[in-house]
Amino acid sequence: MKKVETKNELINEMMRFKQQNKSIGFVPTMGFLHEGHLTLIEEAKKDNQIVILSIFVNPLQFGPTEDFDSYPRDKKRDEELALKAGVDLIFSPSVEEMYPTEPSYTVNVRDRVNVLCGKSREGHFNGVATVLTKLFNLIRPNKAYFGMKDAQQVAVIEGLISEFHFPIEIVPVATIREEDGLAKSSRNVYLNELERHQASALYRSLLKARDDINNGERNIDQIKKQVQQMIMKETTGKIDYVEVLSYPELKEMKVIKGKFILAVAVKFTNARLIDNITMEV
Ligand code: PAJ
Repeated sequence: MKKVETKNELINEMMRFKQQNKSIGFVPTMGFLHEGHLTLIEEAKKDNQIVILSIFVNPLQFGPTEDFDSYPRDKKRDEELALKAGVDLIFSPSVEEMYPTEPSYTVNVRDRVNVLCGKSREGHFNGVATVLTKLFNLIRPNKAYFGMKDAQQVAVIEGLISEFHFPIEIVPVATIREEDGLAKSSRNVYLNELERHQASALYRSLLKARDDINNGERNIDQIKKQVQQMIMKETTGKIDYVEVLSYPELKEMKVIKGKFILAVAVKFTNARLIDNITMEV
């Protein structure tokens, strides 16, 4: 496994893979790898001859009051896990390498961002779209892998790929969960013991809603109310949102119809957890 930290080294390595006509799968991450990330790598390995993993905690996508400085990092462990998972090359640049100066050009996302996490994290998806534009241009992968745990991110990236004509196929990967259903996340380490125990209620509330919808419920307010009540009853967290929107457009709907997402965000003492399910009726 190669490890590179500069753009020039990365470009050189990528040229070598391209000369060998290898298919390239790309898994962008912010590190502190867990099974969710490892599943993306596994999927990338199935489809491609070469798998590139990037590890970069991207300051541009963190708000001024968010956890950029305290975001969990463990480079050595990440490298061991990546090696075991069969990654061919890790790109882990410094902030100065990715942003040598204050960026003069950034990607401004206007669609699909004024809802869900975009509403409370202003500028977040501009930061995601900007860093991915840079990474896509450096790596020029055939396919890039993203988790549906961050379904809004997948929707925004699909828009980015389509509007900027990136010749890259986006592969969405289903959310990987703990045994009790909690979606795996680098931020779960911020939960205290009680909160960790309560946190499985998020997914249970989504599953209950899925059952109701499968049994014919089509009233969005009713579904949202049920989910809210269950989370309020079973956790000490504060609900940020419970939303039902069309997917991937993320538009409001009058009744449940077609492809849609049911998404929740809940604030605990030191962690804000998100989860979602997508369905089609
Ligand atoms: P990060 O939070 O590190 O996540 C990297 C990738 O892993 C994302 O595509 C995310 O959706 C996926 N992932 C996280 N938890 C998952 C889980 N439980 N199951 C399946 N996939 C999971 O998302 C980012 O980094 C950044 O925004 C990034 C795309 C790297 C741009 O900076």
